[in-house]
Amino acid sequence: MSKIAITGVTGQLGEMTARHLLELNVSAGDIIAVVRNLEKAKPLADLGLQIRYGDYEDEASMLAAFENVDKLLFISSPSLDNTHRIAQHARVVEAARDAKVGHIAYTSLAFPEKSALGLENLHLATEYAIRTTGIPYTFLRNGFYMDILVNPSLHGVIKSGEFVSASAGAKVNYVTRNDLALAAAIVLTGSGHECQTYELAHPHPFTYDEFVQILSEVSGKPVKHADLSSEQAYERLVATGIPEAAAAFMTQAIYPAIAAGQFSFASEDLVKLIGNRFTSVKAALEQFLGK
Ligand SMILES: NC(=O)c1ccc[n+]([C@@H]2O[C@H](COP(=O)([O-])OP(=O)(O)OC[C@H]3O[C@@H](n4cnc5c(N)ncnc54)[C@H](OP(=O)(O)O)[C@@H]3O)[C@@H](O)[C@H]2O)c1
Repeated sequence: MSKIAITGVTGQLGEMTARHLLELNVSAGDIIAVVRNLEKAKPLADLGLQIRYGDYEDEASMLAAFENVDKLLFISSPSLDNTHRIAQHARVVEAARDAKVGHIAYTSLAFPEKSALGLENLHLATEYAIRTTGIPYTFLRNGFYMDILVNPSLHGVIKSGEFVSASAGAKVNYVTRNDLALAAAIVLTGSGHECQTYELAHPHPFTYDEFVQILSEVSGKPVKHADLSSEQAYERLVATGIPEAAAAFMTQAIYPAIAAGQFSFASEDLVKLIGNRFTSVKAALEQFLGK
C-alpha cells in the first residue's frame, strides 16, 4: 500500500484529515504523522499511525521523515510571519524533492490571484516552489474556515439577538474545516488529482443577512444583523465583551476584505470532491448548536 505522510497533523485540519483517511479504509500503519512535538502525537500513535519527527525549521528532519513516502499532505505553517513562512515552506519542498516523494498535496489559499488579504504571496510562492520540483502536485486552495463565523461567540449573539458586522452587504464563501479535511483525504486516496488546482470555497457565497436568517431558524431565537461602519462595529463588539484584539482584527482586517468582495468568489470544486457530504451553513449551525 502507498504511504501517505501528513505534516501539521497535530493541528486541527491535519488530525481531521488523518481520521478521514482511516474512514476511507487507509490502514493506520500506512499513514505517517510528521510532527515536531512527539508528546503531542500520542493520540495519533494511539490510532496506530506511524509517528516521525519533522520540524519545518530543520530540513534534515523533514528529509528523514519523508523517506519512502508516496503521497504527502503538506499543511501550510501557521507562522504569522509570511517571509519566514516562505523559508519554512521552501525547506519542506526541498526535502520532499530530495526524498523523491511521489505526489505533494499542499493546503494553499482560495483564489490567491484575486486576493489582497496579505496571504496570497506566501501561498503562490509555495505553489511555485512545488512546481519547480517537477513532482505531481495538487493545490488544495482552502477557503476561510467557517469557524470565523460559527464559534462560541455565537452563544452571546443568540442571547443578545444581534449579530454585528461591517460587511457592507457583501458575501462570504466560508466552508467548514472538516469538509476541507475530507477533500484532502479524498484527493490523497483517489486518482486523477495530479497537477490539479482546486478552489475549495462555498459554491453559493452568502451574506450575513442570510446567515442570521438561518441562525434564527436553527436557534429558534430571532437574531438581526447590524451592518455597521468599521468604527461602530469595533465599539459595539468590544461593548459586548469581544476582546479588543479580536474586535480590531475583525473590523480592521476581515470586514474591509469582505466589504471589498474578497470572500465573494464561488467554486463548485469542493462539492465536486466531497459530494453530498458538503456541510451547508444550516448543517454547520445545527452541529454547533446540537440541534
Ligand atoms: N483556511 C483558513 O481559514 C485558515 C485559518 C487559519 C490557518 N490556516 C492555515 O491552515 C493550516 C492548518 O490549519 P489548522 O487549523 O490545522 O492549524 P493548527 O491547528 O494551528 O495546526 C498547525 C499545525 O502546524 C504545525 N506546525 C507549526 N509549526 C511547525 C513547525 N515549525 N514544524 C512542523 N510543524 C509545525 C503545528 O504543530 P504543533 O501542534 O506542534 O504546534 C500544527 O500541527 C494552518 O497552519 C495555516 O497555515 C487556514
